[in-house]
Amino acid sequence: MSRPHELRQPLGVPAPLPPQLAEADFEALRALVHGLSGISLNDARRTLLEARLSRRLRATGKPNFADYLAWVAAGAAPEDEVRELLNCVTTNKTDFFREPHHFEFLRRTMFPELERRARAGAPKRLRMWSAACSSGEEAYTLAMCAREHFEGQGWDVQILATDIDTDVLARAKAGVYPAERLANLAPEALERHFLRGKGRWSEHFKVRPEVASLVSFERLNFVDSEWGLKTRFDAILCRNVVIYFDRRTQERLFRRLHARLGEEGYLMVGHSENLHFLGELFEALPSTVYRRRATTGAPAAPAPRAHRAETKSKAKAAPALHELEVGGVFASGSPSAVRARLSDSVAVGLFDPRANVGGLGLVLLPESVDGDSASQRFVARAMKRVIEAVAKRGGERRRLKATLVGAAGSSPPPARGSSTPSRTAAWIVKFLAQESIAVAQTRWSAETALEVLFQTHDGALRVRGVAGEAAARARRAERQYGDEIVPNTASAPASDSTAS
Ligand SMILES: C[S@@+](CC[C@H](N)C(=O)[O-])C[C@H]1O[C@@H](n2cnc3c(N)ncnc32)[C@H](O)[C@@H]1O
Repeated sequence: MSRPHELRQPLGVPAPLPPQLAEADFEALRALVHGLSGISLNDARRTLLEARLSRRLRATGKPNFADYLAWVAAGAAPEDEVRELLNCVTTNKTDFFREPHHFEFLRRTMFPELERRARAGAPKRLRMWSAACSSGEEAYTLAMCAREHFEGQGWDVQILATDIDTDVLARAKAGVYPAERLANLAPEALERHFLRGKGRWSEHFKVRPEVASLVSFERLNFVDSEWGLKTRFDAILCRNVVIYFDRRTQERLFRRLHARLGEEGYLMVGHSENLHFLGELFEALPSTVYRRRATTGAPAAPAPRAHRAETKSKAKAAPALHELEVGGVFASGSPSAVRARLSDSVAVGLFDPRANVGGLGLVLLPESVDGDSASQRFVARAMKRVIEAVAKRGGERRRLKATLVGAAGSSPPPARGSSTPSRTAAWIVKFLAQESIAVAQTRWSAETALEVLFQTHDGALRVRGVAGEAAARARRAERQYGDEIVPNTASAPASDSTAS
């Protein structure tokens, strides 16, 4: 019990209430944080944020949240205060060897690949980026793996580790961790890579200088227009951070990460994140590892006549084949074929017969997107991505002809049912009518799963039924897409519905 002389308030005078984060303040905070960092704040964190931001009110002397937020939003607060605010809103959970399959992939696949290339004359150089590194565990895990594999063999290893949050970066740079944070490490690894503290630090470990010297920590905010990076990385780990971003921010970030990867570089994301919607840039490998696609990043310049003739003749020989995942889009004017497997989704092919440019999108309106206006917005957004991908490669919107393919249940209107494929098909048909895009062909098949092969340079289409593992894989991918992508998309700001 408190003794009287410990009371700060005179008896009988009620203590002032802590400041309240009212609904309007929370909305202002949400908009501010989204603009500054891309983070979409979730209502569930409101109480926590109220407590954390109260500390900023005390530190800055601002009387209430509204004044504090208006001060930061107006650009009147010093840069350090903006950083402090962002430090308050980040979620920093991390671990050594978190999601260990990624480190296994490095050891078993990527490191041996680099060694093979080095034997063929490439430099003995390894560059990795722990993007959103939090307190450093991920970056030091990379350093330990690299050290175990390459030490003493003349390799030049550098690991960049970045985060927006200056508090966690300070902890990362110190490289000191309490013993319980190192429970994932085998005793030999602990011995090899860490030094045990003495005296009152005896329950703490410090990363050995041989490990620490491989890693450099920097502050980097993903939404800043300049990153100041020139390196092309062999691997980028960008894990458990885009779950806090809406789809538009995710897409922008992943496109920029694509540009920072080496030709055969890998991108790894967290277990509840994926890049299904960027199939044209990244090839999905198992366990949320993605390989950079080399050929499709930049929009192809319109081909000169002579080149067109040449590419047409090449098309007959062997058009490049691209696999499309649900939510993905692929477009090209060069000879290429896109393959997609679908069960509940609808394949939308768009083709400009004058420019010989086409694209395929695999659109799925998941059950969790409910109500007419949300469904319409969702499908419109997916369709706009297909149109824009074709337009980027030289296709003219007014000349586009659409081909639609759906599996069982995707009967088009007016026989519109309530199944997922039927709803998806219905909203696509409606969108195309509103946009005056002619539907040249529809294939509503009775098969439960289909494989579609679409040639982007001549609009030719082949469809066949698939069963067994191929069909099961298509269904799994669609289920995962519905579970993982949609909550982010559905919670995206309304303006996102018009995004590309
Ligand atoms: C949950 S931690 C993930 C740490 C580590 N990647 C892992 O998977 O264990 C997410 C990190 O992303 C960082 N972050 C959030 N928004 C960011 C942004 N706009 N730019 C850079 N880092 C950001 C946070 O500060 C936080 O440390």
